[in-house]
Amino acid sequence: MNTANIHFYDLHPTMADLKAEVLKGLSVQPKTIPPKFFYDQYGSQLFDQITELPEYYPTRTEIGIFHEHGEEMAMQLGRGCWLLELGSGSSKKIRVLLDALQPVAYLPIDISKDHLLHSVHSLATDYPKLEIHAICADYTTDFQLPCSSVFRPAPGNEKNRVAFFPGSSIGNFEPSAAQELLQRVAHLLGPKGALLIGVDLKKDPTHLHAAYNDAQGVTAAFNLNLLTRLNRELQADFKLTEFEHHAFYNNQLGRVEMHLVSKCVQEIQVDGQRFAFAEGENIHTENSYKYTVTEFQNLASAAGFQPAQVWMDAAGLFSVHRLRVRR
Ligand code: AVI
Repeated sequence: MNTANIHFYDLHPTMADLKAEVLKGLSVQPKTIPPKFFYDQYGSQLFDQITELPEYYPTRTEIGIFHEHGEEMAMQLGRGCWLLELGSGSSKKIRVLLDALQPVAYLPIDISKDHLLHSVHSLATDYPKLEIHAICADYTTDFQLPCSSVFRPAPGNEKNRVAFFPGSSIGNFEPSAAQELLQRVAHLLGPKGALLIGVDLKKDPTHLHAAYNDAQGVTAAFNLNLLTRLNRELQADFKLTEFEHHAFYNNQLGRVEMHLVSKCVQEIQVDGQRFAFAEGENIHTENSYKYTVTEFQNLASAAGFQPAQVWMDAAGLFSVHRLRVRR
């Protein structure tokens, strides 16, 4: 295992941050827990399984787009760049682009520490010359890059700055929050920066329904694992048999919603606080917004980016956008 080129920065949110956010989310109506809490170690593994399910088209479709157009993307983004990846997960997709892009440094950011460490170690073995600055952080907050001297070096030693944000994770943000996040990314990248971002497209709701209600029940297990995590980390007493996974496409808002539905009247304790549930009451755990190409370009423009190019698969399921920071 090659660790010589790995620098690790731990900015993981503290247990107190986690607790405060969960207690707040369970105290409002409708009850809500943000999707970032899915990604403990087991949740990250379940997500990796989701990406290989026959019904979950986004990952394989996006990877297909990278295989087909990766060389062209790399040419336009500029070889030898500094490459920042938001929500790098298992760093699978970046592998498709690394050979073409040949970055001087790779800066993956992910909230799941074990998953991040595991994936960068395996990446370092396969790319021994690549300098890696792995950052465990919650990129949904206004965080600073700890290795800013790498990303913002002395004048005269600058490289192109590129951010990579695949997987349509942008769809898990409310559009206003997505715009704020993209604004922060534009600021981080600076005037010559570029963003390569994967965005899931609007499509037939039955296709979407299948993708979030797979036959093997992996998405249901992923959703319910949130409760296992709260039981373990916040001394909660959720019974997993008393809640069920519910996912559907909300046509009016253009998003897939995931919920955990209480099967009965019950009271749950979390960190010593009691929360009452009516039968059929939901915890809203995730939104996954779907965009048309124009809708997304408008959002990116409002965040300070200029749309430069968009690639899609032949069936029009998924899009990859190249955006330039507007000067
Ligand atoms: C990470 N994110 C883009 C996934 C999505 O499709 O919204 C998370 C997911 N939730 C259920 N299946 C996959």
